[in-house]
Amino acid sequence: MEISLDGKVALVTGCGPNIGSGIALALARYGAKVACNDVDEAAIKACIARIERNGGEAVAAPGDVTDEAVVQGYVDDVLARWGHIDILVNNAALLGGRGVLDESAADFERAVRVSSLGYFLNTKHVGRAMAERGIRGSIVCVSSSNGWSGTAGVIAYAFHKGGVNNFVRAAAMDLAPYGIRVNSFTPTAPNPDNPELLAERARQGLGPGGVLVHGRGGGLGGPTGDEPWRRPSRWSGQRSPMVPMGTTGTPTDIGHAVAWLCSDYARLITGIDLVVDGGARAKNFAYAPASPEDLAGPLPVISLDDTELSG
Ligand SMILES: NC(=O)c1ccc[n+]([C@@H]2O[C@H](COP(=O)([O-])OP(=O)(O)OC[C@H]3O[C@@H](n4cnc5c(N)ncnc54)[C@H](O)[C@@H]3O)[C@@H](O)[C@H]2O)c1
Repeated sequence: MEISLDGKVALVTGCGPNIGSGIALALARYGAKVACNDVDEAAIKACIARIERNGGEAVAAPGDVTDEAVVQGYVDDVLARWGHIDILVNNAALLGGRGVLDESAADFERAVRVSSLGYFLNTKHVGRAMAERGIRGSIVCVSSSNGWSGTAGVIAYAFHKGGVNNFVRAAAMDLAPYGIRVNSFTPTAPNPDNPELLAERARQGLGPGGVLVHGRGGGLGGPTGDEPWRRPSRWSGQRSPMVPMGTTGTPTDIGHAVAWLCSDYARLITGIDLVVDGGARAKNFAYAPASPEDLAGPLPVISLDDTELSG
């Protein structure tokens, strides 16, 4: 049995070079035609080119996910071109931010707005397009480990990702009568593996995770001020291994899982969260796994990108 998305049409929001592009590529490699959304036209172009050089079909669906007229517009454009939408992946979000002592009202509001309105409006208009046409489709909302447990320094992100998790359960109830499934997928700090993104980061002297190769790693949300009353928000000494299987995987692993979740094999799966993280979330807080070098490690990743970069 092979998983196939042949004949299906997908819309992926926020198809930047990391996770959005990885999911869009996977859906295309499993046979779907993909409409690529972003506010950044260069990100859309790169995602479409990546899909096309890997043998898939893609179009642009540009625009801001928080603007209802814009969302309705690109959904209508995809319907006019391909007649139906079977898969929606809500992925566009603003990452990073600050902790509760330092976050600004404006940045908090913007981050929550992109995630909440973006996921809501795309689910509303794609959901209507599916229901009107009798399409028993699949909607995936990208969450984060920050939606399930607390990290210092990302108060807005924690707020809206937590909201995504219950949005999914409620939308699953709204759309169940139409045979439309709604689930979340939780990435857990995956290691970027888009060859173009890695090459660009290397050119800038950055490692795969976007952190300076030499110098102190920033990480998410370090403390902001240097007043005498400040306390550190995170451990800065040597970190013990934290992932039972040694790695949380890559956007390619996410892509395989999301493609399966959007396939007909998952016909009764709705209102759940799917996570691919080498056991990171299941881990008891007090348990430190063995060092990655001592582990068997997972099976090799099944690559979806045949890109060979010169130089
Ligand atoms: N990178 C991680 O380690 C990680 C971990 C857990 C969850 N996630 C989640 O995965 C998703 C993708 O993360 P990523 O690392 O690829 O992020 P990214 O910042 O590389 O990509 C997000 C994309 O969304 C686009 N975007 C932002 N606002 C938009 C708007 N208003 N309308 C349309 N597009 C907009 C951006 O231009 C960008 O291309 C996000 O939902 C993120 O929260 C990421």
